[in-house]
Amino acid sequence: MPLVDLRSDTVTRPTPAMRRAMAAAEVGDDFYGEDPTVNQLQEAAARRLGHEAALFVPSGTMANEIAIRVLTEPGQEVLADERSHVVQYEMAGMAVLSGVVPHPVDTGDGRLRPEHVRGALKPPALNRAPLGLVVLENTHNLAGGTVSTAEETRAVISACREAGLHVHIDGARLWNAAVALGVPPAELARGADTVMVTLSKGLCCPVGSILAGSAARIEKARRVRQQLGGGMRQAGVLAAAGLVALESMVARLAEDHANARLLAESLARCPGVRVAPAATNIVVGHLEDRTASEVATALKGHGVLAGAMDGRTLRLVTHHDVSRGDCERASSALAEVFGAPARR
Ligand SMILES: Cc1ncc(COP(=O)(O)O)c(C=O)c1O
Repeated sequence: MPLVDLRSDTVTRPTPAMRRAMAAAEVGDDFYGEDPTVNQLQEAAARRLGHEAALFVPSGTMANEIAIRVLTEPGQEVLADERSHVVQYEMAGMAVLSGVVPHPVDTGDGRLRPEHVRGALKPPALNRAPLGLVVLENTHNLAGGTVSTAEETRAVISACREAGLHVHIDGARLWNAAVALGVPPAELARGADTVMVTLSKGLCCPVGSILAGSAARIEKARRVRQQLGGGMRQAGVLAAAGLVALESMVARLAEDHANARLLAESLARCPGVRVAPAATNIVVGHLEDRTASEVATALKGHGVLAGAMDGRTLRLVTHHDVSRGDCERASSALAEVFGAPARR
């Protein structure tokens, strides 16, 4: 029986419709701005995110790092939740590429609020690095796919504005947040200087993220992308998959959320596991007396791949390439591995 791969939504493969669109894509040299499919994707993404312009970039990490470079000056601090992607998983990129350092705060649930911004402000002093930028992550990956609403996002952005700070949204899974809340993605991206969204996670594209913002910022972002070696040529073959993703892969994320709820309920029945109800497609379980790698190895013996995020944190992520039946199989595997009561 094939493995049920719940390690990440990045394992998704392009759909047959994407492969057809990629094969038929009209292309040109994007260095000259002449790839019609890339241009079409950038325009469609900017519209959906409610920003003036957008740039197609190879990865979410590169989009975040470009945004940090465009929105900061060397010597500044970047406020972000301590478990956010820009703090944990970008190889200290902000320090290396932009000369800025993270100012991490513990928000508990990944949702940065106005009080975190106000609490991080410092009186100006000759010998203190000023805050320059705030990075929000929606949904929040390590906190368990938690969602910030449009109202919460507006409130924190307005606290940033009062303090003269720029705002970038790491919306790798903003699509999931929008579907969970039943609002257009633009509602969750409004007011930020830049927003990044990923096409290669739950939306199944093989490659690609989008950075959106004002036309002037995106022009600067294009130059930084070039400097980082992220300029592409006939990238329309990739952008074609992105267009299919925007048109047909967003609404179905609700299925992934329902499957994650099933897994969260199953994990909650396991002894020695703390788990929050799944808000989107990510389930994070905190293990009291077993290591995450030991549990992941045991699950693999039952045909299920799970992520060991750190010593005691197990992550299960639902996506297009795991069905309801696969998640039911994974629930039974959890019950066996933990000796938990079976599902009724
Ligand atoms: C919240 C978040 N931001 C950014 C990224 C980076 O995306 P990429 O893997 O395309 O670099 C990820 C990837 O998992 C993520 O979860």
